[in-house]
Amino acid sequence: MNDPLAAARAALKSVFGYDDFRPGQAEVMGAVLAGEDVLAVMPTGSGKSMCYQLPALVEGSLTVVVSPLIALMRDQVHQLEALGVAAATLNSMSTDEEVRQAWRLLRSGELRLLFISPERLLVDGLADRLREAGTRRLAIDEAHCVSQWGHDFRPEYREIARARHALGGVQTLALTATADRVTREDIVERLFPRKPRVFVHSFDRPNIHLRFAAKDQPRRQISEFLAPHRNHSGIVYCASRKRTENLAETLSERGFRALAYHAGLDADLRARRQDAFLQEDGVVMVATIAFGMGINKPDVRFVCHADMPANIESYYQEIGRAGRDGLPADTLTLFGFEDMALRRRQIDEKEVPEGRRLVERRKLEAMIALCEAASCRRQALLAYFGEESAEPCGRCDLCQGGVALIDGTVEARKILSAIARTGERFGAGYISDILHGRETEAIRRNGHASLKTFGVGKDRTTRAWRSAIRQLFAAGALAEGEAGGLRITEKGEAILFGRQTIALRPEPDRAERRCVRVEDPDALDPVAEALFQHLRSLRAAIAREEGMAAYMVFADRTLIEMARLKPLDRYALRMVHGVGERKLAAYGDVFLNAIKEFLSRRTSSE
Ligand SMILES: Nc1ncnc2c1ncn2[C@@H]1O[C@H](COP(=O)(O)OP(=O)(O)OP(=O)(O)O)[C@@H](O)[C@H]1O
Ligand SMILES: [Mg+2]
Ligand SMILES: [Zn+2]
Repeated sequence: MNDPLAAARAALKSVFGYDDFRPGQAEVMGAVLAGEDVLAVMPTGSGKSMCYQLPALVEGSLTVVVSPLIALMRDQVHQLEALGVAAATLNSMSTDEEVRQAWRLLRSGELRLLFISPERLLVDGLADRLREAGTRRLAIDEAHCVSQWGHDFRPEYREIARARHALGGVQTLALTATADRVTREDIVERLFPRKPRVFVHSFDRPNIHLRFAAKDQPRRQISEFLAPHRNHSGIVYCASRKRTENLAETLSERGFRALAYHAGLDADLRARRQDAFLQEDGVVMVATIAFGMGINKPDVRFVCHADMPANIESYYQEIGRAGRDGLPADTLTLFGFEDMALRRRQIDEKEVPEGRRLVERRKLEAMIALCEAASCRRQALLAYFGEESAEPCGRCDLCQGGVALIDGTVEARKILSAIARTGERFGAGYISDILHGRETEAIRRNGHASLKTFGVGKDRTTRAWRSAIRQLFAAGALAEGEAGGLRITEKGEAILFGRQTIALRPEPDRAERRCVRVEDPDALDPVAEALFQHLRSLRAAIAREEGMAAYMVFADRTLIEMARLKPLDRYALRMVHGVGERKLAAYGDVFLNAIKEFLSRRTSSE
């Protein structure tokens, strides 16, 4: 075959078992195979790795892959080995055996992919030896790590340009999922001697459902969100270590297999819990943001934020860990007044230059605005990354149960007036009580029950008032004053004195807020569902025996297709998504037998 892209497509099927490229892959690979330097910006889980894996296979040459995390390199090497691809890693944690294996494959010219940490590339003339071994190209994964403007700057990445030179100035491919324009320009400048071809693909992940809710009774809200996901794997992100432990305990009491994960646990326990998450079905990881980078578990079915994320970049990365197999995945983000105030305080207290602080503040405001958005969540999210979308998505909470904005100036004035009359010393809860006319102990003591504003908002619940206060806060009409009370800003004054109006989202009734569940068009019929569960337990047994992650045997999506198509011979099995030659040889017969046996048992019992 002299069309390299056609050869790549063929290898995609024979090695990985996938029928076609995903959006963006063909263009990027076309340029890579044509020998161009490339920067590819594609969303999380979109299949960036394939863009350097397939060219290495098709050309039968060595690609050196720089990657920031050891766990990530190991994981990729295991996955590639399971597909029969010669891959290895050299990093500070490599065992002697791993190093020997890497060099054996290098010397024999079999090695296709070598994963390496950036600092390693420059020690002991390794780059020279790799050049002599015939390195064809350099791939830089998570390339945003080179930029201070990205969210995960790693100084070691600054050495890559030098390493590239030592490798003989080979063709270079840089990949990242997060790069705004500034970061992108920075990457180009720092990694490439000449301007590369730049591909920026849409950030949309259409299979991920987006949902936000004001934090009300978080434990109940989270349990309700998890209820339809009993046997699924997922992640619940919390803002503090303590909260991960408490929440993991609550969820365990409610019958979930929930494990806490944060940087304060000892390395051994952390590794065990991560393995459990990767290898078993149905583990809920309750974690701080320390968890997740580089985890390529394709069947994560949900991500929940128990606390509001720090900014939209982090939010997007974190929800992006769900649904990498392309099947529907659920997300829920809880946000509360306290989250917003806490994040603002964290930024104020950080010891960073003023310019940086301003940038962080703007990022936080954007996150708050997304929480309080009034129309399509996905449009708002994509707009943040500079993408315009013509139509609302139809697959987010607001599209499905949309709320219209109404003129909220009268409500806003009541709130602002209550805050002014109490001397800007109190928080959202206290002010809501005054408006609703709830005479608490504190209100009585302060003599606030006799205020003119006391009880002017009896017709609305304290919850509705809190929501309105949060929206004013998000809109910048309120700010946090000294001693934690709410303070009226200039904008707030303009509203209070009738110079400006404001639109607010009415807090819908709880009944209305229940998620509208769309009927899943891919749902399995009862027989297929039973077969799927049967194949899943077979997969679990194999994974346990071989000490590998279940999805490395076959992904969920593959088992679902097997359950639906019920292949009875190798030819039919070969048609199934995710069944390549190597996996067919390793597991084909076991799964075919299981399917046959399952079907004959059913017919004989009918
Ligand atoms: N053409 C394809 N068809 C089906 N599945 C694919 C295809 N290409 C890649 N995949 C699968 O998609 C999943 C995600 O791929 P990958 O890890 O490369 O994502 P990524 O873009 O690097 O994401 P991240 O930014 O999070 O690292 C993997 O399980 C991979 O096997
Ligand atoms: Mg990746
Ligand atoms: Zn939408």
